[in-house]
Amino acid sequence: SKVSFDYSKAKSFFSDDELKAMEAKVLAAKDTLVNKTGEGNDFLGWIDLPVDYDKEEFARIKAAAKKIQSDSDVLLVIGIGGSYLGARAAIDFLRHSFYNNISKEDRKTPEIYYVGNSISSTYLQDLIDVLKGKDFSVNIISKSGTTTEPAIAFRIFKKMLEDKYGEAEAAKRIYATTDKAKGALKNLSNEKGYESFVVPDDVGGRFSVLTAVGLLPIAVSGADIDKLMEGAASGRELALNNAFAENDALLYAAVRNILLGKGKSVEITANYEPSLHYFGEWWKQLYGESEGKDGKGIFPAAVDLTTDLHSMGQFIQDGTRLMFETVVNVEKSKHTVVIGEEEVDLDGLNYLAGKDMDFVNKCAMNGTVLAHVDGDVPNLLVNVPEQNEFYLGQLFYFYEFACGVSGYTLGVNPFNQPGVESYKKNMFALLGKPGFEELRAQLLNK
Ligand code: PA5
Repeated sequence: SKVSFDYSKAKSFFSDDELKAMEAKVLAAKDTLVNKTGEGNDFLGWIDLPVDYDKEEFARIKAAAKKIQSDSDVLLVIGIGGSYLGARAAIDFLRHSFYNNISKEDRKTPEIYYVGNSISSTYLQDLIDVLKGKDFSVNIISKSGTTTEPAIAFRIFKKMLEDKYGEAEAAKRIYATTDKAKGALKNLSNEKGYESFVVPDDVGGRFSVLTAVGLLPIAVSGADIDKLMEGAASGRELALNNAFAENDALLYAAVRNILLGKGKSVEITANYEPSLHYFGEWWKQLYGESEGKDGKGIFPAAVDLTTDLHSMGQFIQDGTRLMFETVVNVEKSKHTVVIGEEEVDLDGLNYLAGKDMDFVNKCAMNGTVLAHVDGDVPNLLVNVPEQNEFYLGQLFYFYEFACGVSGYTLGVNPFNQPGVESYKKNMFALLGKPGFEELRAQLLNK
C-alpha cells in the first residue's frame, strides 16, 4: 500500500479528452521540473533531497535531538512560514493529539511550543508563563536570518536563556537552522558558538520540511526521521518514474488544472482527523505561495471535518459554486474505540453499538463526498494508509512534486514569492526602519 490519489468522484466533471489534453501539458511541466529548465530552477534541491542529503548533518540532528530530550523539559521552535509549518504538521500528524498535555513519563520527550509565527505580545507573554520552572532549549529556524517575527521572539528567549543559565550554557541550548554561510543568524551562531544546521541554498522555505528545518523538531518529538526520509524516497520514485496513468502526483496536478479551467478557483483540502489540521496549513502555504501570483492560481483553503460541516459545510454544499475539494483520507485510524450499548436507548445510538467510531467517521466522510459531488463540488481523494512516518514522507513528497508540476502547468514560477515582500516593506516603513524614509512619508500621506 501507498499514498494514492483517486479522482473517480470528479470524473463526471470533465471528459477523457480533456484529461488527455492536460496530460501533454503536465508531462511537459514535469520535464521542465526534472530537467531544471524552468524559472526558479535554482530552487529544486528538494527533488533529490530524500536520496541525497547530508548524512553527517543528519547524524548531528539526531544527536542534538537526544541532547535536547535529555536536558530540556521544553523545546521552543522559533520560525514562521516554511520555517515553521512542516515541523508542526509532522509532529501533530505523528505524535499524540495532546502531546504537550500527557505526562512526561508517557511522552518521554520535551513539550514543544511554537513561537515567532506572529507578533502577538499576548501569545509571547503567555508562553513565558508556561516556561516557569522548566528547563528549555531553543531551535531558531530562519533561512534568511532576518525575518522580523522569529527575530523578535529569538531576542526575547535568547535573553531568558542567558539570564537563566549564563551565556556559555545558554549557547549550548540554542540550535540555529539557517543559511550555511550568510545572514545575521549565521553570524551570531559563529560568534556565540551555537550548534547550527543548514537550510540548503537550493531549497525554499515551503519545500524545506525534509531538511534540518523540519527534521530537528520532528526528531525531538520522538518521531523516526529515518522512516520519514525512506517514505519520501519512495514517494520520489513513484513521482519520477510512474507513467502518467499511474502517477498520482501528475494526475493530481492535471485534474486540479482542468478543474481550474472550469472555474473551480478554490481548492478545499479536508481532513477527518484533527491531527491533520496543521498538515492542511502546510499544504496551504505550499500551494498558495507557489501558485498564487501573476493574477493566477487556485486559492487553497482547508477545513477540518466533521467539525466544519457544522459551519463551513453549508457553503461547501450550497454556496457560490467555485470550489473543488480534496479529502486527505487516513485509511486506518491509529486507535479503535468501540461504541457501547445502553439498556435504554435514549440517545437512539444503539444501532451503532459494537461499531468502531472510525466506521462512523468513514460513513460521514463517504456520505459527505457524495453530497458535495451532488452539490457540484468535484471531490478528489488522497488516501493515506496510516499515520506513520513512512506514509507522511510519501505524502509530503507527493504534494511537493505535484506542486512543482502544477505551477509550471499553470504558467507561473512556483519557486518564488515576490508577493510576500509588499507587507514587509510597508511594515518597515511604518516602523521607521532606516532606509525606508521615502516610503514612510508616502504611506503616512495615505
Ligand atoms: O516559503 C517561504 O519562503 C517563506 O514562507 C519563508 O519560509 C518564511 O518567510 C520564513 O523565512 P525565513 O526562513 O527566511 O525566516
